[in-house]
Amino acid sequence: MAAQNADAPALFFAPGRANLLGAHMDYNGGHVLSVALSKGTYGAFRLRSDGRIGLKSAVFHDKPVSTTLDELRPGRTRDWSAYAEGALYVCRKEWGNFGGVDIDLTADLPMAVGLSSSASVECLIVFALAELLGVKVAPDKLIRMAHRAETEYVGVRCGIIDQAAILLARDNHALLFDCMEHTREHVPFCADRLSIAVVDSGVSRELAKSAFNERVAECTSALSALQGELPGLTCLRDVTPAAFMAHKARLEPPLDARVQHVVEEVPRALAGTRALRGDDFVGFGAAMTGAHESLRDLFSVSTAELDALVEAACAVDGCYGARLTGAGFGGCVVAAVAPEAQADFESAVPRAFADAGFGETTVEWFRASGGPRRLRPEETAPGFPLPA
Ligand code: GLA
Repeated sequence: MAAQNADAPALFFAPGRANLLGAHMDYNGGHVLSVALSKGTYGAFRLRSDGRIGLKSAVFHDKPVSTTLDELRPGRTRDWSAYAEGALYVCRKEWGNFGGVDIDLTADLPMAVGLSSSASVECLIVFALAELLGVKVAPDKLIRMAHRAETEYVGVRCGIIDQAAILLARDNHALLFDCMEHTREHVPFCADRLSIAVVDSGVSRELAKSAFNERVAECTSALSALQGELPGLTCLRDVTPAAFMAHKARLEPPLDARVQHVVEEVPRALAGTRALRGDDFVGFGAAMTGAHESLRDLFSVSTAELDALVEAACAVDGCYGARLTGAGFGGCVVAAVAPEAQADFESAVPRAFADAGFGETTVEWFRASGGPRRLRPEETAPGFPLPA
């Protein structure tokens, strides 16, 4: 075996994720079923001792960042490096002044299309630094740290599911995560029985951050209005269908529609997960498609392109279900497909999308993968070895 170069950077990988059930449920305290994807973010890490931070990205190669740990503070940048800086900022807050680091990033995951490229970077960095600094830390703590990078540093009021989906992931399993209790269950999701298709709508998610924060604010207002009627209510997940019917007049449109989505998505996500556990892929897929219809009609986060893709996907024999993934407002559709239907899916969906006048798209295939890991020295990543 070749001797290892002591100066070689330490290489780490963190996956992206797709949410399958429980749409916009995390910040409402509900259950989410997600999978980590077989593509994600790679980082080459070199610890420093002079307090400096060097960040490079193969995607934003013309915008390297050179700063210091001391200069990291929320609002410092809105550029690509905000997610990485946020993770380093939180690591420093938690673990003290760790001396600085150079990180070269690259990815084989499409960015900003709803597959959580941002949480992938945050999770990669907190995971890698914990290992390189020798900090013993439970995965739940890393989840909270990666989540704070996004909420405190970047300023997105997201729930915790993206970071939990990535850091708790297991190969060939989906994760059912209770976003209120933080309990979890790994549900078999085997690549030889279910393929995950991702199809990009090509619609940029420019508005995603502000529109996402607006949905969170609507849910918060609806919760306050209902708390007047239902003392002790702490999150929308606990509004029963009967309580919703009795009190929905208290909710101004569109808040009534937003709450109806949550009230219906709670049992749909749990029923869909039960179906998956019982190998009832048809029932599972129906819950995915049901989630999409509700996101379109009640939560208003879909687009004409995403709707066309879901319709085209569901028309393929062997596609169990499809929905937009992530926050919506553009980005991708995710579908659960029987492996033997892959070829049909791959030709039919882009064709139907083009026929509907929406241009070209392609299908990418994934399987449910494990969480972040250190790469073995002989493993390579796209873009590696990186320039010194
Ligand atoms: C984004 C957010 C998540 C979650 C989803 C919607 O991905 O980052 O926290 O709210 O949208 O389910």
